[in-house]
Amino acid sequence: MWGGRFAAGPSAIMREINASIPFDKALWGQDIAASKAHVAMLGAQGIVSAADAATISAGLDQVAAEYAATGVPEDWDLEDIHMTTESRLAELIGPVAGRLHTARSRNDQVATDFRLWVRDCLDQTDAGLHAFQVALVTRADEHTASIMPGFTHLQTAQPVTLGHHLMAYYEMIRRDRSRLAAARARMNECPLGAAALAGTGFPIDRAATAAALGFDRPTANSLDSVSDRDFALDFLMAAAQISLHLSRLAEEFIIWASQPFGFVVLPDSLSTGSSIMPQKKNPDAAELVRGHSGRIVGSLTSLMITMKGLPLAYSKDMQDDKPPVFEAASLLALSIAAMTGMVAEARFRDQRMRAAAELGYATATDLADWLVRQADIPFREAHHITGTAVRLAESRGIALDQLPLGDLQAIDPRIDARVYAALSVEASVAARASHGGTATAQVALRVAEAQAALQMES
Ligand code: ARG
Repeated sequence: MWGGRFAAGPSAIMREINASIPFDKALWGQDIAASKAHVAMLGAQGIVSAADAATISAGLDQVAAEYAATGVPEDWDLEDIHMTTESRLAELIGPVAGRLHTARSRNDQVATDFRLWVRDCLDQTDAGLHAFQVALVTRADEHTASIMPGFTHLQTAQPVTLGHHLMAYYEMIRRDRSRLAAARARMNECPLGAAALAGTGFPIDRAATAAALGFDRPTANSLDSVSDRDFALDFLMAAAQISLHLSRLAEEFIIWASQPFGFVVLPDSLSTGSSIMPQKKNPDAAELVRGHSGRIVGSLTSLMITMKGLPLAYSKDMQDDKPPVFEAASLLALSIAAMTGMVAEARFRDQRMRAAAELGYATATDLADWLVRQADIPFREAHHITGTAVRLAESRGIALDQLPLGDLQAIDPRIDARVYAALSVEASVAARASHGGTATAQVALRVAEAQAALQMES
């Protein structure tokens, strides 16, 4: 395709290092669509004849049918998907195929194809996250009153509900989806027509190709169009953030499924056994989601460092943009699917969670709050009095509400019998009815809002 100015062909090493067809063949659908939009525009503008445009378009359809039926052939001499398609087109329709590349370059071609691919990927990721949110909200709705220990520092802090905990992830994913939407809106401009770097002298209609490919408008600067990959980085940044969220939930499931916790029984379908210890049921899917987040963040780092310091416009380094994006996309899709299944099918053990919430003096704050409210004691002093009560209960190995009233009054005479009503985990949860708090009624409100936002049947 470019041999005219060369006396010798490339060495085997040059062919191998240069070839992107092993991975960019994944862009074949986008490449055909962009070529069809381009040639239709060339025909409409009279840059190629209407008859040639029709021949090329039909030939492209035939190439696409072959790819769909038998896959894309991998010939390193043809380097990439763009030249592979053009070469096959020439075999099918003859020299008229050479008119397709009028007023374009592989530089704007690959920028266009890859944008289309990333745009589809954003849409698929968003659909996956929607399903994940539906699973979270469905389980949260079942568990708005299931009490579990809430942790800080992984130390028992205050009782919360499982529904509240799951809805925390709903919120994270809601923000992640807004990141995807913002990335999509930002990237939806068409680079086709930027040509190699400077635009073209042919009377092309960039608005027409942009519209044909579902872009909002053509890009405004030809140099930027062929040389930036921030749309791919936007996806990877969102993917990295999503994978961090998934990894945290995966980690919690791993902890909760451990025998000392026993808060959850993971679905058999997303667990594995041990080849030596017959009793084992390992949370491998959750561990791999946790592990994959490292590779997804690695993909982001990889492309950021590829792009750093590249002068305008196109450099061949940019061919390395695709493997990290493809890898992150497939790992992320698997991770979302695995966590959706895990949330949907996990069996939560309400009694174990509630019993754990009773341990660790989770309602100590409620005692302090009671002293503030009922006895008008400043919170700092109430905190100190409560600490003394916790120390006494701990020394006897009993819960706070098992301390006799006399002992509590010996610590502070302003305590009276009404305090016991505040010390149950149910009372503690019910008290936290501030906006966004863990009280069942609050969580139920958030669940209802989420069901409406997700257009779920409630
Ligand atoms: N295979 C190349 C890529 O993926 C296509 C663009 C090549 N452009 C060029 N001027 N060599 O980036």
